[in-house]
Formats: sequence, C-alpha cells, structure tokens
Amino acid sequence: MKAVVVEQYAPIDQIELKDVPPPSMEPGQLRIRVEAAGIGFVDGLKIEGRYQTKDPLPFIPGTEFAGVVTDAPGAPGGYQPGMRVMGMTRAGALAEEIVVRPEALHPLPDGVAAEVAASFRANYLTALYALSSRAMLVAGEQLLVLGAAGGTGIAAVQIGKLLGARVIAAASTPDKRAFALTHGADAVIDYTQTGWRDTLKELTGGHGADVIFDPVGGEISVQAFRSIAWRGRHLVVGFAAGAIPALPFNLPLLKGGALLGVDLAQIPLREPDVQKRLMLQLTGWLADGQLKPVVGRVFALGDFREAFRTMQTRGALGKMVVRIST
Ligand SMILES: NC(=O)c1ccc[n+]([C@@H]2O[C@H](COP(=O)([O-])OP(=O)(O)OC[C@H]3O[C@@H](n4cnc5c(N)ncnc54)[C@H](OP(=O)(O)O)[C@@H]3O)[C@@H](O)[C@H]2O)c1
Repeated sequence: MKAVVVEQYAPIDQIELKDVPPPSMEPGQLRIRVEAAGIGFVDGLKIEGRYQTKDPLPFIPGTEFAGVVTDAPGAPGGYQPGMRVMGMTRAGALAEEIVVRPEALHPLPDGVAAEVAASFRANYLTALYALSSRAMLVAGEQLLVLGAAGGTGIAAVQIGKLLGARVIAAASTPDKRAFALTHGADAVIDYTQTGWRDTLKELTGGHGADVIFDPVGGEISVQAFRSIAWRGRHLVVGFAAGAIPALPFNLPLLKGGALLGVDLAQIPLREPDVQKRLMLQLTGWLADGQLKPVVGRVFALGDFREAFRTMQTRGALGKMVVRIST
C-alpha cells in the first residue's frame, strides 16, 4: 500500500510517500480503507520530533481519518465490513489502509463526505468540550475566538454560534476574517493591530469577552486575558504561535477570571462518558445539518507535503485534508 513514512524526524520536505506492506491485524482489531485524512498542527510537530511525545521510528503520520471497514473478524464493537467510519488514532492515517481497535472509531452518519468526516472529530470535539464542559458557555455570552480561521478556531466559531453565544473572531488577514464571517462569526477583529483590545471593548459594549478560545498562545494570550469580562473563562487550547505565555497571577484575581486547560487526548481516558455524550451531540448536529464542518483544502495523497506547508506557513483557512482513495 502507499503510505507517508517518517524514517527520521525531519521537516516535511524530507518526508516521502513509499510502498509498504499493509499493517497486520491482531484479534479485536479492524482494517479500514482510508478515504481521507485530516492534517492537524500536532501531526506537523510529530513528524519533526517536536511534539511532547515522540512516535518510535519509522512511523506513518496522521491521526484523523474517514473510510470504510474492509475486514472485521468477529465484528469488534459491532462494526461490519462495508460500514463507513471516522476515526482518531495515535498515528497511521496517511496510508491507504489502517488497522485500529473499535474504540478509535465512530460510525459516519449517512451523506457525510469522507473529507468532511476527516476534518471533523478532533477540532469539533475540542471546541465543544472546551466551550461546554470547561467554560460552561451559556447562550447570550460573548465569545472571543483567537486564530479564528484555523482548524480549531473555525470549529469554535461554529460551535459557539450553535451554543447561542455572540462570536467575535480574531484573525490576522482580511481573507481569514471574511472566512470567519462566512462561517457565522458576528464580528471580527484584526489582532495584529496594536489597538485591537480597544476594538474588542467597543464590540462588547465595554463588557469584555466572557469566554476566550485560545489556540494561539504567545503575547496575544496575555493581552486577551487583560480584556476578559468579570468571571471570564480563558480556554488554553494550543500554542500555534510557538511561545507558551506566562500569566501574571494578579490578572485572574482582578478579573474574577479563570484559566482552563483543554486536552483532547485525555478526554477518552479521563472522561469517557463526557466524550460519548459530546460525540452524540456533534453527530446529531452533523446528521440533521445544523453543523456543516469546514473543509479547508483537499490535497491528493501525492501532494501531502503541500497540505502540511500550507498549515505550517500560517496560510490555512480551516483544516487541511488529504484525499487517499475513493
Ligand atoms: N488542546 C487540544 O486538545 C488541542 C486540539 C487540537 C489542536 N490543538 C492545538 O491548537 C493549536 C492550533 O491548532 P489548529 O489545528 O487550530 O492550527 P491551525 O489551523 O494552523 O490554526 C492556528 C491559527 O493560529 C494562528 N497563528 C498565530 N501565529 C501563528 C504561527 N506562528 N504559525 C501558525 N499559526 C499561527 C493562525 O491564525 P492567524 O494567522 O489569524 O493569527 C492560525 O490560523 C496547535 O497548537 C494545536 O496543537 C490543541
């Protein structure tokens, strides 16, 4: 089968598509023909060996995928050959076939394209878990989304609207701000401008943001916290800008505010019931058309490097997806 193979941790330009044997199966596992894989920020870090955990070499990158079950001895988890699924795993999705345990899978509602499913689970579960389970966002609150045109950011814009918030989207370019408006943001801010906090103050009628969804990090995070409303909640999602900010402790005191961590990887381990409930809510919205996940750009498998480069050079609108088979 064709697969992207990381033999040495290296920049994406040095990673190759190879012909490798299909993965072998153990009892209780299923084989999936991968139709599409979503590319996340973490995948780029893992390939370079810069993520907090290192995959043993060699490995096939890719953590999120959608496809069709082709082999399911004993029907683990009730899955049968021919069923369409979406999945999340530690590695292996950028390949024509992947072998996983049933816990990694979720059935795909009818009519949802593989590209959509591959860009869905990680970002939308992160956004819903952050906004509902951590920040307890309620209808009518003001939500500020940083990096709002990125993969997690645009998911937070859409989920914020579904939860009834007023969404203010912060992004660095006119294209990105237009993209956030197209997907439901009520107002936008150019947070590369020095006066952006004054704009936020005006947009919130002096109130500040009740909830801040922050996948960006760096100095912007501390500035954003300074503009949080009384009893505001700042969600620590990621550090796309590179730097991990340090927050002076007097700020939460003065704002009656809270800094709340969000870690998608730990939800199934520590809060499996919450994950189950949130996935049901998300797939319900997906099935009835209330939620239309944003697919940024779709690349052919041979162009996988371009998908990574687009994300890594801050050029991505939404999530980058690699189409693997039809
Ligand atoms: N906690 C969790 O469970 C969880 C889950 C998924 C992802 N994450 C993390 O969240 C972060 C964002 O992931 P994502 O998939 O949303 O990434 P993404 O699609 O690349 O979006 C990140 C956004 O950050 C902004 N940004 C600011 N400085 C940047 C820089 N130097 N390089 C790249 N982007 C920069 C960009 O928006 P502007 O150009 O508008 O500034 C970009 O749209 C990553 O650190 C990822 O590891 C965490």
